[in-house]
Amino acid sequence: MAKRFTIILAAGKGTRMKSQYSKVLHQVCGQAMVEHVLTQVQALQPNKIITVIAPQSQQVRDLLGDRTQYVEQAEQLGTAHAVLQTEAALSSQTGTTLIMSGDTPLFTAATLEKLLAYHESQHAQATILTAHAPNPFGYGRIIRNAAGQVVKIVEQKDASAQEQAVQEINTGVYCFDNQKLFHYLHQVQNNNAQNEYYLPDVIGLMQQQHDQVSAYQMDNFEESLGVNDRSALAQATKIMQKRINQQHLQNGVTLIDPENTMIDVNVEIGADTVIEPGVALKAGTKIGQNCYISQGSRLVGAVLEDNVQVTSSTIEQSIMRAGSDIGPNSHLRPQADIGPAVHIGNFCEVKNATIGARTKIGHLSYVGDATVGSDVNIGCGVVFVNYDGQRKWHTDIGDQAFVGSNANIIAPVKISDHSFIAAGSTVTDDVPQHAMAIGRARQTNKNDYWSKLPLADDPHWR
Ligand code: UD1
Ligand code: CA
Repeated sequence: MAKRFTIILAAGKGTRMKSQYSKVLHQVCGQAMVEHVLTQVQALQPNKIITVIAPQSQQVRDLLGDRTQYVEQAEQLGTAHAVLQTEAALSSQTGTTLIMSGDTPLFTAATLEKLLAYHESQHAQATILTAHAPNPFGYGRIIRNAAGQVVKIVEQKDASAQEQAVQEINTGVYCFDNQKLFHYLHQVQNNNAQNEYYLPDVIGLMQQQHDQVSAYQMDNFEESLGVNDRSALAQATKIMQKRINQQHLQNGVTLIDPENTMIDVNVEIGADTVIEPGVALKAGTKIGQNCYISQGSRLVGAVLEDNVQVTSSTIEQSIMRAGSDIGPNSHLRPQADIGPAVHIGNFCEVKNATIGARTKIGHLSYVGDATVGSDVNIGCGVVFVNYDGQRKWHTDIGDQAFVGSNANIIAPVKISDHSFIAAGSTVTDDVPQHAMAIGRARQTNKNDYWSKLPLADDPHWR
């Protein structure tokens, strides 16, 4: 098989996004558009992948790393000029070059593979991937002659009224004979409405000079959506969302209202898990089987084992082990490790803490920087006082300890197995096994207090 090369164009300014960030970095379902493109391209295992970036695109380099080579385009003079920047890296090669844009995040490897196979089977010098657009506005139009052969591509801004009526569009994906590509790129002029060097002009030049140009029309226009502004970004997200959710439904996950469930790419969900609408599952989240995630929950890089219940809660970079539950309205901040069958109830926050099996933290508590054993009861409103204004300190609580309501645990402190903390205590010292710690002012009753009050005689006050 001939060698295959890929170029991803990602240096454009993206003016229409009205953003301080590079257009191709905007995310669709938790992944930058250019990474969507690269991931699909990588599945084709080409011999080379080169991404054309603007000079200050450190963020793109940081994101994609060594999954691609890079060349810089110093000035954004158009898509043909962008491709020309790869000349030193590519022009000596023979083979097929696939060119795509970094702002078309919905193309699948399967479609690209079909295009490449078609191009190779036609022995064409160029093959354009085209689609039929219900509303072609903004896209380059495919102009064919009476015999149906592609003659040229005309950009929206350069198109006559008659050309604008054409609904077959250039998806911005092409295969070229690599040598021919660089030969023609040098002939492209910028005498057009935008004074840019257009890559699609290569097609017209090839046709004029009797090189064979073919076109492969894909049946799904949606997949070719190009994102030039925020409304197309929202549209792309909807389409990608549908695709992702469809996959989960097929895998045996119940989504009660798929249209209102936001699941990023790279999220795993086990069968028989039920997800209510209004849930957001962000990239890196892994959910086991038979879990239940209710409305308003947001999981970011969370790991849930089987049979976990999450009720309207936020979980970030934390793990909930089998059979545990949380919520409503609780928050696991990074590095919480919630043991099997643990119950975390209403309005609790847990951060950087390991909670042993079957422990209960039922109401209104803050647990930070701690190791809590198994079968512990943390009463209502317990605060792990972990921060002294400069440093964070650790708390250790042993198995089967009982921490009464409204205790303040002043770290660093160690509360041993089977010990008790009296409700309302402020604990500053270690507590040995089987002991009861009580650290609060003793109650005194001031008798006959009422009669000493200045307003005691006032009937309104009484
Ligand atoms: C382009 C095509 C159009 C096609 C559409 C499909 C051209 C002239 N037009 O239009 O026929 O229907 O895509 O989505 O190619 N870029 C650079 N350097 C530049 C200019 C652009 O790297 O100097 C990159 C952009 O980052 C982008 C891609 O090339 O990823 C396409 O550029 P864009 O300006 O979005 O072209 P469209 O107007 O969408
Ligand atoms: Ca575009």
